[in-house]
Amino acid sequence: MQSTEQETSFLSDRILALAESQTIAMAKKARELAAQGHDVINLSFGEPDFQTPDYIKEAAKKALDDGFTFYTPVPGYLDLRQEIVAKLKRDNDLDYKPENIVVSTGAKQSIANAVMCLVNPGDEVIIFSPYWVSYEEVVKLAEGIPVQVKGNIENNFVITPQQLEDAITSNTKLVMYSSPCNPTGSVFSKDELLAFARILEKHPQVYIIADEIYEYINFTGEHASMAQFDFIKDRVITVNGFSKGYAMTGWRVGYIAACKEIADACDKMQSQITSGTCSIAQKAALAALKGGKSAAEEMTAAYLRRRDMVLGLMKDIPGIKTYVPQGAFYIFPDISAYFGKTTTEGKVIHNSFDLSMYLLNDAYVAAVSGDAFGADECMRFSFAASDAKLEEAMGRLKVSLAKLK
Ligand SMILES: Cc1ncc(COP(=O)(O)O)c(C=O)c1O
Repeated sequence: MQSTEQETSFLSDRILALAESQTIAMAKKARELAAQGHDVINLSFGEPDFQTPDYIKEAAKKALDDGFTFYTPVPGYLDLRQEIVAKLKRDNDLDYKPENIVVSTGAKQSIANAVMCLVNPGDEVIIFSPYWVSYEEVVKLAEGIPVQVKGNIENNFVITPQQLEDAITSNTKLVMYSSPCNPTGSVFSKDELLAFARILEKHPQVYIIADEIYEYINFTGEHASMAQFDFIKDRVITVNGFSKGYAMTGWRVGYIAACKEIADACDKMQSQITSGTCSIAQKAALAALKGGKSAAEEMTAAYLRRRDMVLGLMKDIPGIKTYVPQGAFYIFPDISAYFGKTTTEGKVIHNSFDLSMYLLNDAYVAAVSGDAFGADECMRFSFAASDAKLEEAMGRLKVSLAKLK
């Protein structure tokens, strides 16, 4: 199918080979059903259900009134980069200078910049799996070869150092992971990261993208950064941003901290593609950081309460295997016990995509099938929704799943 399409389309091979983001596709289908009048509970979103805190909105209004309407420096306003440097010191005990920081239009662009600047065609990129949907596609855009190293639910999806060691070859250029992880909510401890770092120390050609965008949504009380290990720090690109912790998904501000060579390369890449991030959003991000972590902490307390509620309700549903997510706002249970079962209309559920479509159409609950994250046996449910919606969704799930024979 794809090769015929590629032979006949005027579009580039690059775009034809790119998969549509399944989280965005699922959200679109859910919106369509809702527009037809169905009471859809959408747990497919990767975003906080909270409004951006008022003090951040006020800073944006002030930025407009103060005339911040012009092009911004490509790597971001200096005051924002200085505040990011202060944050990295305060929260992560990392020493950087503003020249090491590049602010981008969301952490998504930060990641894409870094991959494009590091990966040559044919380079292998190790992705800890289950992984965030865009990692694999952006590696393919850079003509790299994604290599998945998979954790399992029994181990809270944390991969072992041996698995990493076994996956590294002379062609490995980059390792990518998120902690706290989207979709699993798993969190790497300092000791776990140190074990990975010791392996990476032996392979000086390998760089590391440490995606810490969910840093503030961590239920363990401790966040560890890969860049804390001085012996590999120059090879670590720390990615972070404002979307999740400060509930600022629509503002589009993310950043990297990296050695100057990589930061300069990302600056150059960005200068040809988007230029500097929106002036107003940057001033809002500056205010967010200056305001500290209390807003994020309040939201995280709500996510923790909801996690426990959802876990309690899921445990009551036969055939759903759970674990305890330690961060982010997702749970990624194993639902493969339903594979091979049949709906009342006689349709067989073959995989997580079939099950997600069944649940959307029968229970009007939207979740994202695990194949999008490299784990077809699972399904991702967001708990960034109200308690009432979560309770109702779990109830509907139980009823619809019980109908499968
Ligand atoms: C693991 C991970 N990294 C990066 C991003 C991108 O965040 P941003 O909204 O800053 O582009 C997301 C968003 O869903 C994510 O889940």
